[in-house]
Amino acid sequence: MAGSIPRTFIDDLLTRVDIVDIIDARVPLKKAGKDFKACCPFHGEKTPSFTVSRQKQFYYCFGCGAGGSVIRFLMDYERFEFVEAVQELAKLLGLEVPFEGGRPQVRVAAPGSNDLYELMEKVSLYYTTQLRKHSQKEHAVEYLKNRGLTGQTAKQFELGFAPSGWNNLEQAFSNDPEIINQLTRAGMLIKKENGNTYDRFRDRVMFPIRDRRGRVIAFGGRVIDEGTPKYLNSPETDIFHKGDELYGLHHALKQPGAVASMLVVEGYMDVVSLSNRGVNNAVATLGTAISQSHVQVLVKHTSEIIYCFDGDAAGRKAAWRALEASLPSLKDGQQFKFMFLPEGEDPDTMVTQLGQQGFTQLQNQAKPLSDFMIDYFLEKADHQTVDGQARLIELAKPLMSQLPQGAYAQLLTARLAERIDMPENELFGRFFSDSRSSGRKFRANNVAKAEKPSVIKLAIAMLLESPSLAQSVSSVEVLQELHMPGVDLLEKMLVFIASHPNITTGALLEHWHGTREGDFLYETLRWEHHVPEQGVESEFKGVVDILFRELRNQRLAKLLSQSKFAPLSADEKTELARLLAE
Ligand code: GTP
Ligand code: MN
Repeated sequence: MAGSIPRTFIDDLLTRVDIVDIIDARVPLKKAGKDFKACCPFHGEKTPSFTVSRQKQFYYCFGCGAGGSVIRFLMDYERFEFVEAVQELAKLLGLEVPFEGGRPQVRVAAPGSNDLYELMEKVSLYYTTQLRKHSQKEHAVEYLKNRGLTGQTAKQFELGFAPSGWNNLEQAFSNDPEIINQLTRAGMLIKKENGNTYDRFRDRVMFPIRDRRGRVIAFGGRVIDEGTPKYLNSPETDIFHKGDELYGLHHALKQPGAVASMLVVEGYMDVVSLSNRGVNNAVATLGTAISQSHVQVLVKHTSEIIYCFDGDAAGRKAAWRALEASLPSLKDGQQFKFMFLPEGEDPDTMVTQLGQQGFTQLQNQAKPLSDFMIDYFLEKADHQTVDGQARLIELAKPLMSQLPQGAYAQLLTARLAERIDMPENELFGRFFSDSRSSGRKFRANNVAKAEKPSVIKLAIAMLLESPSLAQSVSSVEVLQELHMPGVDLLEKMLVFIASHPNITTGALLEHWHGTREGDFLYETLRWEHHVPEQGVESEFKGVVDILFRELRNQRLAKLLSQSKFAPLSADEKTELARLLAE
């Protein structure tokens, strides 16, 4: 969502940039009719189904369903945060991005961070070079070999070696006071009270940590053989926020094609060792529990997340926390699964024993989130008794209420209802009855999925594709009085377009992005309404006529039924006469 950049700024920005130029600079486009095409950069394909429309200012891939405004393209392609994408576009136009209320919601890099990234890249190069050339490299190389890693894996993950000694980095970077200062800011050197500095990482195998855009932001260092602490991580710095990062994410995203699923494991070595055996979709948190923000990052890149934990009590507890962190990101089409390993094993030891195929088989047996959740509830409460059933519902309710309303919440309720032998409607009522409004939203949301598309959905679909159609509708406000699901959004769109006559499809999508209405709009785009382009205008008018006729009928019915109980006022009588004459 927009965070603290004013919406009006973004709306305006999107009318001034051209999505074709911006995508073409990254993915060369070919003209095809009035649109532009290329092979989709988000999934592997040989014939182009990635389409960019200049007129609509949005892109869409018929192959994988990726699509959105130029902002979404930059976020997905460059892995920018929202604010970064807006800043990139603003920069092209020479504009300064205004922030409402000061601090932007998404962290933007602290001043001088660019230098830190460059420096960290050099530090990483220094460590990888030491693993190849340093006179003490042998015990590090031996250690990695003993753990079964190939030279190629070490190279891919840019594993390095920090030699023993206190001042290696200072010497390598030629004692330049400015650089020493930066190395300290980057967490690579520790400053003593007397102002002198020394190397944080000594005699360790080094794992550079890259952010999703591939910049080195920190290191993890493992002790060689035995010793404590086993792992030493960079401290929090201007460019490293441990709780947001996932080790291995950049590597996984670099793989050709879309990432069909991602495996979340606990350790650095797990990620590296899995890749060593050909499993290249693993990521690990940096010694923290998986958080909602981790999950938010992951769901941007894949539609299946598999959590991999030990089968012991600690592993199950961690899995439950992962489930809780995932609930807010549950939506239709997004899968979460849980995989439990035999006691005493971790993904590294498992994949080493079983090989890639064996590991994949194990992975295929992972439990869907719904089963894991329901099993957990059933373990905690005996649903055979009335008391137990009530307790189970109380246990489940706070979790269920965090689910975004939609088909998923309904599905989960249905499955639980079946397991505890309770009518689905009743259980649904027990979970969601407190807020009547959310119940209503739930149904409204399902309009999008109704088998027979409503006229409203058709109107919204056409309007989204050709916003200028809005010109043909007068007296938009009266639509508010129409009682039909989806009419709110239609009315809002008409009003918004009236005040932004040059708005494009892409900008409309962006305007509602991240809201329930935005989800509905994206879905509408994927839906083929089969109205041929030449016919859109008259079809749209026809639909609007239907709405106004419906409005008239509703009003008429209301006045007529009202008149049965009490005399109508003079105004109402005039209105009734007018309606009957229409
Ligand atoms: P190996 O023992 O080399 O196989 O490591 P691992 O990757 O299997 O690590 P383990 O499962 O023991 O721990 C999981 C993760 O927790 C590690 O990858 C680290 O991020 C973190 N961790 C483990 N030990 C330490 C420690 O001593 N200090 C810190 N700060 N983090 C640790
Ligand atoms: Mn391990």
